[in-house]
Amino acid sequence: MRAVDLIIKKRNGAQLSTEEIQWLIKGYTDGSVPDYQMAAWAMAVVLKGMDDRETTDLTLAMAASGDQLDLSDFAPAAVDKHSTGGVGDKTSLVLGPMLAAVGLQVAKMSGRGLGFSGGTLDKLEAIPNMRIDLSEAEFRHAMRDIGMVIMGQTADLAPADKKLYALRDVTGTVECIPLIAASIMSKKLAAGAKSIVLDVKVGAGAFMKTLDQARDLAQTMVRIGQLSGRNVAAILSSMEQPLGLTIGNALEVREAIETLQGHGPSDLIEVCLTLGSHLLVLAGKAQNLDAARQQLQATLDNGQAWAKFREFVAQQGGDLAAVDQPESLPIAPIQIDLLAESSGFVQRIDAETCGIVATELGAGRARKEDAIDPAVGLVLKRKVGEPVQAGEALLTVHAANNERAEIALAALKSAISISPAAVEALPLVFESVA
Ligand code: URA
Repeated sequence: MRAVDLIIKKRNGAQLSTEEIQWLIKGYTDGSVPDYQMAAWAMAVVLKGMDDRETTDLTLAMAASGDQLDLSDFAPAAVDKHSTGGVGDKTSLVLGPMLAAVGLQVAKMSGRGLGFSGGTLDKLEAIPNMRIDLSEAEFRHAMRDIGMVIMGQTADLAPADKKLYALRDVTGTVECIPLIAASIMSKKLAAGAKSIVLDVKVGAGAFMKTLDQARDLAQTMVRIGQLSGRNVAAILSSMEQPLGLTIGNALEVREAIETLQGHGPSDLIEVCLTLGSHLLVLAGKAQNLDAARQQLQATLDNGQAWAKFREFVAQQGGDLAAVDQPESLPIAPIQIDLLAESSGFVQRIDAETCGIVATELGAGRARKEDAIDPAVGLVLKRKVGEPVQAGEALLTVHAANNERAEIALAALKSAISISPAAVEALPLVFESVA
């Protein structure tokens, strides 16, 4: 077989066979298929799509590209959560400890920033010394000792997705249902959790811009998970405006800490409670969604979720002093407000533009090898529906220097609109797919 023939076949809109997909993924993993051919193939998939059978084959081939963890001896009921990617989405940092605090074992394999969306691993690395590259032995210890792990794909776990994810990030091949479904589900299957909740983001700051696309992605992933014997549910949640108030790695860690300490923004807490309660029911830890929600809310109220987060940071080598004094996490030297030009109510905060601006400030990557600046990003001072007076701050840009801050401010001006008439708050959670 030759990679070029498979690229042409997909470019011409034909279906690839199971063997062809397995050959391509194997070759990409072992390096015999180079990045440039894989990028061309990914672009052909973006343009021509894949059917259900091809998407399932791609997922299984990527999951099988490395080790597949068998948790049955030490965490048979492990749970996992994954988002399709959003802006300001620090849900995993909050929900992971909440779930572990109610006694579930959380085995979460996360990714880095992708396109304009942030990544949990980049956020965690804003905590000094935090390790996300655990060995299998360390993973087992952490699951036994504290019941929670958030780690990256090691060379051994879904390595095909690890490579393809980084390639898609910089080749305009992110927004594609089969590629997103295979990327997420290959990681989920390889990491071995029994029950999985998927947060499928919809709206301006999501890869899925419409409810129909989001539903399609959710159904594809739920079907693949169930075929592989997992309990899976997906929640469709809004990413029309950023989640919470912060965008950028250290800024988001600080907000996650505040939330775990009981002072978080209501939209972030609501998404955590919704996703978490579905997972508790899937895992048989609660009879119904209401009972599950109460258990989870209690972990925020009684400090157990915060205590679990501290255990998790310590377990993965992170600096506890930095999370106990979040003001000591990296801080950008330049902070400039974007001021409202008129009085009224915030009508729109375009999440995609906020994500792109944060990436350009250095919170994300333009090329695979780029380093992240953990300190930079945006802090919203208002959310959609809230009143604002002319001259008041709409958001604060945190930048490495004045020049970058000015570019960001100019780009953000058109991302926010103000209406003279009252504006209703946006819906947050649309529906679930199971
Ligand atoms: N999250 C992933 O892990 N992969 C994608 O392709 C998109 C979001």
